[in-house]
Order: sequence, then C-alpha cells, then structure tokens
Amino acid sequence: MEWIVTKDYKSMSDTAADMIVEEIKKNQHLCIALPTGGTPIGTLENLAAAYNERNLDYSKLRCFNIDEYVSLGKDHEQGYYYFLNNHLYSKTNIDLSKTYVPDVFAKDLEFEAELYEGMIQENGYFNLILLGIGEDGHIGFNEPSIVHEAICHVADLDNSTIDANARFFENKTEVPKQAITLGIGTILKAKKIILIANGKKKSDVIKKLAITNEIDPKFPASFLLTHPDVTIICDKEAVSCKE
Ligand code: PGA
Repeated sequence: MEWIVTKDYKSMSDTAADMIVEEIKKNQHLCIALPTGGTPIGTLENLAAAYNERNLDYSKLRCFNIDEYVSLGKDHEQGYYYFLNNHLYSKTNIDLSKTYVPDVFAKDLEFEAELYEGMIQENGYFNLILLGIGEDGHIGFNEPSIVHEAICHVADLDNSTIDANARFFENKTEVPKQAITLGIGTILKAKKIILIANGKKKSDVIKKLAITNEIDPKFPASFLLTHPDVTIICDKEAVSCKE
C-alpha cells in the first residue's frame, strides 16, 4: 500500500481528484466505482471543477455506485445515486446512460445484486475504485463479519454505521437498515484502488489499517492488503502513527 498524508481535507481532496483525472486522461472509457458520504464530497467536486476548468471529456466514463440504500430512489436526497448525481454527474458531461446503480426497489433484492455484479463483469470490472472507510473498517457496506460475500449482495448495516450515517437524516429512525453493496471480491477486482479518509474520527481505523499485517474479516479494510495497487490518501488528522 502506498500512503499519502496531506495537510488537510482540501489537499486530500485535491490529491485524490488529481490522481483520478490522470487516470481519465489515460483512458476516457474508464470504468469507475464511486463512494458517498462526507469524505468524498471534496474529491467529487474537484472532479467536476476539473471537467469545467481543464476542458476534459467525461462523456465516455462508466460510473457505478459502490452501494445504494434499500430503498431510497434516485430522487431521494439521501440516496447515493442522488448524491453522485448532485456532486458530480449533473456538473459534468457524464452520460447518465453510462451511470449504474442497483434497483433497490426490486422484488428480489439478492437477485438484483447479482444482476448488478453481472453488469460490472460485462464492463470488465473497474479500472479504478475510490473508497471511503467506515469507523468500523467497512469498505462499501461490507461490515465486520466472520464471513464475507465476495460479490454484490444485500447487506445489513451495523448499528455503528447507522449511528454514523444518522447525521445525514433528520431522525436516526429514517436511516435505512439495508443496502446493496459491492462485495469485497468485486472491490478487489478493480485494477487500482484509492482510499480516502479525513478527520480525527477516522484516526483509530486508519491507525489499525496502518499496522495491520493480516487479513481479518472482522476488519474488512484489511482485505486491501491482498491488492497490488492501493493508495491511501488521508489528512493529518486521520493519521496518528504515520507521518
Ligand atoms: P464518511 O463515510 O465518508 O461519511 O465518513 C465513509 C464510509 O462509511 O465509507
């Protein structure tokens, strides 16, 4: 794993966006998986700014949600497709017909998750995935567990994740309890992985990631140790043992 420690959130976001822009310049057809939450907002907005300021073409990109809440529709303000559309798609020439999210209203959600995996497979898996990390070490919505599903699946959210995400909702009871998420295997098939983290609340999990040297399913981010091209970009506040 390569570690980049930046001075603050802005420079974490600048660094991550610059790396992604370099990949887009190399391959306009990039197949990319994108995260949601508080961490990636700056990176996504920088990508939108780069499109406008650097005369880039995003029309051939293929963009996949890493996860989506069951069952928040594309027009729900706390839905994850809405989030990506709001912070990136709508501000660029990304072709919405090349943006993908599972149908979280499907009658058979497990089957829908398999279809989503199939769509990712048809696209040759991801050239690049941008990840956040949960305070409990989750990546996507792969929560700490004894066993993990390798492919896209329906995930039950841990209470700690529901608590962490309640800040985006008026009331904690409104936070969905399930999501469709990429599996750990889907994530690891990406050619390149960039993980971003910022703020003191991530310092424990980042410290754990920095010192971990074995796969622990109860610490999902540890699976990243098996991948040959992972860059962790975090700000100083998120780092307590790496400078
Ligand atoms: P956050 O979420 O960016 O809102 O901290 C990260 C995650 O849960 O993956």
